[in-house]
Amino acid sequence: MRILITGGAGFIGRHIAEHFQDRAEVRVLDNLRGGFKSNLSGLDCQLIVGSILDRDLVREAIKGVDFVFHLAAMMSVQESVQKPNECAEIRLAGKTTLRQVLVLYTRSAILVTNDSGPAHFASMTPIHVVTLFGPETPALFAARSPNAIALWAGIACSPCVNAYNNRQSVCRNNLCMQAITVDDVFKEVTGIYDSVKTTTFGN
Ligand SMILES: NC(=O)c1ccc[n+]([C@@H]2O[C@H](COP(=O)([O-])OP(=O)(O)OC[C@H]3O[C@@H](n4cnc5c(N)ncnc54)[C@H](O)[C@@H]3O)[C@@H](O)[C@H]2O)c1
Repeated sequence: MRILITGGAGFIGRHIAEHFQDRAEVRVLDNLRGGFKSNLSGLDCQLIVGSILDRDLVREAIKGVDFVFHLAAMMSVQESVQKPNECAEIRLAGKTTLRQVLVLYTRSAILVTNDSGPAHFASMTPIHVVTLFGPETPALFAARSPNAIALWAGIACSPCVNAYNNRQSVCRNNLCMQAITVDDVFKEVTGIYDSVKTTTFGN
């Protein structure tokens, strides 16, 4: 398996690259605008230095890749105010219309989200959806698509936000989210991915 991490030389990307050591071939696309080459030192990964706004480079970087983790971002608030268009382009936010998102869902295999909105919207397409629930309950908010899976630890204090407390919780230690591990999510995703691959490509 091969993964691509955009913004992989940054804070979160570095941790993902580390997590996938010995589990996947790791490729990073980062223009080092905010991240550092040294963040990846000691890790077995291929670093491609360049911008995700360079389409040819992205085409090259994505070749043979099974999963993309998109973390490239303009993190400076000041810079994002000075260059709002570039900031939105990097983050995809505001770059795609709702129609385009539907096309993106239709052409993609799996959506992993901690927001039930995109999951409900995705139900209009055949995409498989994995939604993480913590302070809310899948009993009320899970997407109704047959292709949707809800991951919820179901600990005693969850759900703690609802319409009656104006979605306010005093909780400052989100055990309900911490209980869902990276490995839990990855197991679901790879299971779905393997079945989708078999159905779509024969094997
Ligand atoms: N750190 C957090 O606590 C946190 C929490 C929630 C969400 N996030 C989100 O996760 C994402 C990553 O956060 P982070 O903390 O790792 O940020 P970071 O600044 O450490 O990493 C972002 C990386 O993107 C790279 N980058 C910027 N523009 C690029 C471009 N055009 N092409 C390629 N690479 C580019 C930067 O060089 C940097 O290495 C962001 O979208 C952030 O909003 C972060």
